[in-house]
Amino acid sequence: MQAAGTRGEAARPGTKSSLTVIDNRTGKQYELPIEDNTVRALDFRQIKTGPDDFGLMTYDPAFMNTASCRSSVTFIDGDQGILRYRGYPIEQLAEQCSYLEAAYLLIHGDLPTAVQAAAWSGSIARHAPVPENVKKFLEGFHSDAHPMPMFISTIASLSTFYRSSRDLNDAQERDLTVYRLIGQAPTLAAYAYRHLNGLPYVAPDEEMGYTANFLNMMFKRGERHYAANPSLVRALDILFILQADHEQNCSTNTVRGVGSSRVDPYSAMAGAAAALYGPLHGGANEAVLRMLDEIGTIDRVPAFIADVKGGKRKLMGFGHRVYKNFDPRAAIIKKMADQVFEVTGRNPKLDIALELERIARGDDYFISRKLYPNVDFYSGLIYQALNFPPIFFPVLFAIGRMSGWLAQWLEMLQDPEQKIYRPRQIYTGSDKRIVPQVSQRQ
Ligand code: CMC
Repeated sequence: MQAAGTRGEAARPGTKSSLTVIDNRTGKQYELPIEDNTVRALDFRQIKTGPDDFGLMTYDPAFMNTASCRSSVTFIDGDQGILRYRGYPIEQLAEQCSYLEAAYLLIHGDLPTAVQAAAWSGSIARHAPVPENVKKFLEGFHSDAHPMPMFISTIASLSTFYRSSRDLNDAQERDLTVYRLIGQAPTLAAYAYRHLNGLPYVAPDEEMGYTANFLNMMFKRGERHYAANPSLVRALDILFILQADHEQNCSTNTVRGVGSSRVDPYSAMAGAAAALYGPLHGGANEAVLRMLDEIGTIDRVPAFIADVKGGKRKLMGFGHRVYKNFDPRAAIIKKMADQVFEVTGRNPKLDIALELERIARGDDYFISRKLYPNVDFYSGLIYQALNFPPIFFPVLFAIGRMSGWLAQWLEMLQDPEQKIYRPRQIYTGSDKRIVPQVSQRQ
């Protein structure tokens, strides 16, 4: 089997699939098995200088080269710009499926039949209303609060309402958790938006599709029937598909890490959403819009690029830990932008973004570091065209990513090899010291 995200060749006939290590401190030789193009870090522990030696560890800050799990959810080949959910290319899913079908695929491992899809979306729609008290909880936030921490804390608050979800061994509870979290994420997001804008909450409508209902809860004002333009509904639905999963990224690693303590799923998802909030992860789309605003006009692009190359700034929406050629999600979004702007009118910031990309793609600083537009570079422009304020972008990312977090959390729970996440460290502090009296402390 090929390890997700790696390309390794099987051992050639007549050779062994193992690694021979010689410890030059002792002269001893060890043979470590290679499986799935990977060696087990624990196999290094046997390499010791003596019986009192703890044994060798591997050091990998930021997990640059460490597989933390086996996963059958998402495959990425960063060099070739490939992204697949459960084997299906992201391009085909974006073209042919709805977000809820993609979410079903991530959670259940296969695309739903028509009957399964109807039951699935029905269950999610029925669980979309949030507990009444959550609305009171939201009232406590200032009117200038950032919606992402509001989203994070309301997701966590669900743990106080659905206490039986703590029984992680109960399959029915786990199903309910999935329905509630996918169903209520847009409701909580929309309620945060309505609170910030002093607008009354709009209850979820079971009759509307997932994404149309979300836009209804967000933007319905006095009109009797709010109906978002179907092309825009579809565009947002596709963005949710593109953001639904991305293997062991920072927030997914967080959901697995927090969930590995066997905490309830709402607390684990709140942890993941908190990780997503950062500007290097899901907060990047908001940062891209701020950057484009700051640049303001095309003629200022070269000076901005010079600042980036001088190390003063980062080009937000560029670069990726895994993709080193192109981000297939960015390619889909860039194509989609034209269709959206046909309906909404062209976002003038698109020209600045295109110019940034044009210059960066021809500049050795970016080429040598393999920095290309990522999913966040163009998604913000579409979100803005759909009337979402930049402050709201990370919340949109979290709605789409909820299904991926859940799929990965479920996989982690059922993986017999998983235990509580607990990395090692290299201690760099003082040796043993004696606590001095207060009067003698410096
Ligand atoms: N602008 C300018 N230089 C950059 C950028 C950037 N956006 N990204 C990386 N570099 C440089 C970096 O300074 C370093 O240069 P040097 O070798 O001279 O020190 C080199 O490229 C390698 O970068 P790195 O920071 O070691 O790479 P990483 O894998 O640790 O970071 C990243 C990946 C996505 C955090 C980073 O590229 C970044 O900060 N990008 C901007 C934020 C962003 O767009 N994030 C969204 C990621 S995609 C959505 C998601 O999945 O969350």
